[in-house]
Amino acid sequence: MKREIITTGDGSKTIQIMDWQEQYHSKHGAIQEAYHVFIKSGLDLFNDQELNILEIGFGTGLNAFITLIEYEKRNLQIKYTGVEAYPVSPEELEQLNYLEELESLSRKDDFDLMHASAWGKEIEITSNFHLTKQQKFFKDIDETDRFDLIYFDAFGARVQPELWTVKIFQIMFNAMKRGGVLVTYAAKGSVRRAMLEVGFLVERLPGPPGKREMLRAKKQ
Ligand SMILES: C[S@@+](CC[C@H](N)C(=O)[O-])C[C@H]1O[C@@H](n2cnc3c(N)ncnc32)[C@H](O)[C@@H]1O
Repeated sequence: MKREIITTGDGSKTIQIMDWQEQYHSKHGAIQEAYHVFIKSGLDLFNDQELNILEIGFGTGLNAFITLIEYEKRNLQIKYTGVEAYPVSPEELEQLNYLEELESLSRKDDFDLMHASAWGKEIEITSNFHLTKQQKFFKDIDETDRFDLIYFDAFGARVQPELWTVKIFQIMFNAMKRGGVLVTYAAKGSVRRAMLEVGFLVERLPGPPGKREMLRAKKQ
């Protein structure tokens, strides 16, 4: 499917799938959304520990990179697993402006290493941030009781309804440790009900700019 780079409301770029008119991030602001949904509503719940994070849809690596910028302030040791079936190309990556927009040009080598690193291998990006990228479909995730935090960042239910089902959330529930948390930008009633059905406790939280609400699910 044809993909194109667009600029979002906060000046940061994202990728748009032309046929679907669907973006990798919010059109209102890619970086703003990532901070609100995944850092403020997810990562901020944890400090002083080793944290296993699973990202559903590694994509441009923006969420992983922001987590890399933020984890030290919370004294975390991160093991980050990013699952992705259709990796972004080097040509697309070159057109993104996250280093500039995040005023993190000094971390260019880390960003490049995240993308250049081999799939299926744990790589040390910094001494306390280890990344494993897995190239596979979400339905094939088979880890159990492993993750403290899941960034659920699939394309919307409008274009990929099969990724917002009881079947997929059961896989997330199984992959998560007791006490773990899943955050997503989505707020649809059907998504919330699918989460409840597999046993999550679900909260509605204020959404990022342009969105009234988002969801956070906990495995008690
Ligand atoms: C909303 S984008 C993720 C954006 C990403 N978190 C970022 O910061 O750039 C959704 C991602 O899921 C991937 N994807 C779509 N369907 C998938 C599937 N069934 N299994 C694995 N990856 C899939 C897409 O290629 C895309 O990279």
